[in-house]
Amino acid sequence: MQIVLCESADQVGDRAADIIEARVRQGPAVLGLATGGSPSSTYQELIRRHREERLTFSQATAFTLDEYAGLPPDHQQSYYSTIRREFADHVDLPLDRLVTPQGDAADLVAEAERYDSAIVAAGGVDVQILGIGANGHIGFNEPTSSLASRTRVKTLAGATRAANARFFPDGDVPRLCLTQGLGTIREAKLAVLVAMGETKASAVQAMVEGPVSAHCPASVLQLHRRAVVILDPGAASQL
Ligand code: GLP
Repeated sequence: MQIVLCESADQVGDRAADIIEARVRQGPAVLGLATGGSPSSTYQELIRRHREERLTFSQATAFTLDEYAGLPPDHQQSYYSTIRREFADHVDLPLDRLVTPQGDAADLVAEAERYDSAIVAAGGVDVQILGIGANGHIGFNEPTSSLASRTRVKTLAGATRAANARFFPDGDVPRLCLTQGLGTIREAKLAVLVAMGETKASAVQAMVEGPVSAHCPASVLQLHRRAVVILDPGAASQL
């Protein structure tokens, strides 16, 4: 696990964008995209490079990490809508190659299996961008998730629902989700985790210095051959 210490959140985004840009410029790339506040400086920097430096995503494919169960793709708070708003609609990534689990599928178990197989069929993810929850989750793999898990239906932790309630003004935060498993995420050829702020410091400490444990799902990255963790001073403050 390589740890990169940055001076600011913007610098975190720049460093993560450097890694993604390097892979995208090599040729057709399969990107793994995360939602949440953490990668937003990365996406903003990639959008800037697309507009000003001709960085193109026209040959790329992207898979998202997770999706709320029960929300149709066009729901404002679905992760499909979110990733379009925050990244995909501002670059030239072909929308038919932006793939998310379908949160409103009639058979969620079958949808999870289909999604996992689609990632494998695409040749796997080349660069997976990740944030980390304050409880150490990645994707929606909450504490106690199996380190070998595949894409599946999960129940959201109370703390995660509370953290995400700000996006649901009616208070109706979904209880279930579909998420890539820790085993799925581990198969990405390169994993890039970005974290900012002191609220993430204790989860970052457990991920980097703690034992590999399902109690801190992000600690699975200690087993990854190429994992880069990019931190601002707040997120690194307990290392
Ligand atoms: C969310 C997402 C994760 C994200 C994490 C942290 O619930 N499912 O992919 O990394 O929680 O979110 P944020 O970056 O907004 O702090």
